[in-house]
Amino acid sequence: MRSPKDFFKPLAIGAPEPVREIPFRPSRMIHFFDPSNAKMAAKVGDLAKKCDVLLGNLEDAIAADRKVEAREGLVKVARETDFGSCQLWTRVNSLDSPWVLDDLVRLVTEIGDRLDVIMVPKVEGAQDIHYVDRLVAQLEARAKLERPILLHAILETATGVANVEEICAASPRMQGLSLGPADLAASRRMKTTRVGGGHPGYLVRADPDPADEKAPRPSAQQDLWHYTLARMVDACNANGILPYYGPFGDIADTLACEDQFRNAFLLGCVGAWSLHPVQVDIARKVFSPPAAEVLWAKKVIAAMGDGTGAVMIDGKMQDDATFKQCQVMVDLARRLAAADPELTAAYGF
Ligand code: GLV
Ligand code: MG
Repeated sequence: MRSPKDFFKPLAIGAPEPVREIPFRPSRMIHFFDPSNAKMAAKVGDLAKKCDVLLGNLEDAIAADRKVEAREGLVKVARETDFGSCQLWTRVNSLDSPWVLDDLVRLVTEIGDRLDVIMVPKVEGAQDIHYVDRLVAQLEARAKLERPILLHAILETATGVANVEEICAASPRMQGLSLGPADLAASRRMKTTRVGGGHPGYLVRADPDPADEKAPRPSAQQDLWHYTLARMVDACNANGILPYYGPFGDIADTLACEDQFRNAFLLGCVGAWSLHPVQVDIARKVFSPPAAEVLWAKKVIAAMGDGTGAVMIDGKMQDDATFKQCQVMVDLARRLAAADPELTAAYGF
């Protein structure tokens, strides 16, 4: 077992010191782009003005014969684009693929100073994070980087879910987790071909009416992802890292996308992936706390003074716990408003 004292020592001589806290930066949407597509890459500068995170995707959705173009395209885009306050992330290929070693070597040594986070797909346990952790440290040392690149794991295999706590705790580099509903459905042998969202067949139905056996029996659709999302949020928060919902594949169904994103927000996620520009605005709206909630939370905090005791506000009981709930809301609002004058005005800061 590793001594806790060693946990914050670099894993390679000359690598930067690991962070002790994951810095909170807005990441309401992680917008995916294909760096092998020159037309898409040319739009990255404009997208950076409206996205919290842009992610150069090298993994699934990039065909095998485009993998090298995607990697080289990302190196070029990273060097040539002014990202402003937008973060640059990448999703590398999976650890069992023939591409990942070159992905890591090339990206960390060529554009490591521009990359904030490396997303690692199909992580199954702490051993996967340990492998990337040491390799990235060696490459950071080679590239003489001054700040560590953080790691983000996709939760998208049954084994990964079984090991979610150890994945979160595997390295001080761990920034967060995303739920990957497509790969996870396949890995679990779930019988859905959708990418995230609900399924009309997953429901509970009321008993027959004994007085009228022919009466229609009401049913309510349930959430296929509730268990995993809730488990992921707990594992992340227990380890001081950030949870995200992943992709919503039905681009045309903006309403269901908004519902899926809002469920994730309410359960504790800080953002979601966006696969199309239309999902960028949905994520910005949903993952910014509603103004009415923030104003209410400010009112409770002001009324509660040092937070102890109990008071009634508008007929609702407030105490230490609700004070903390309100602090979560206002704290997030403040951090997002710091970079957004519209939110500053809406929240009355
Ligand atoms: C994302 O990578 C997914 O598999 O859903
Ligand atoms: Mg996947």
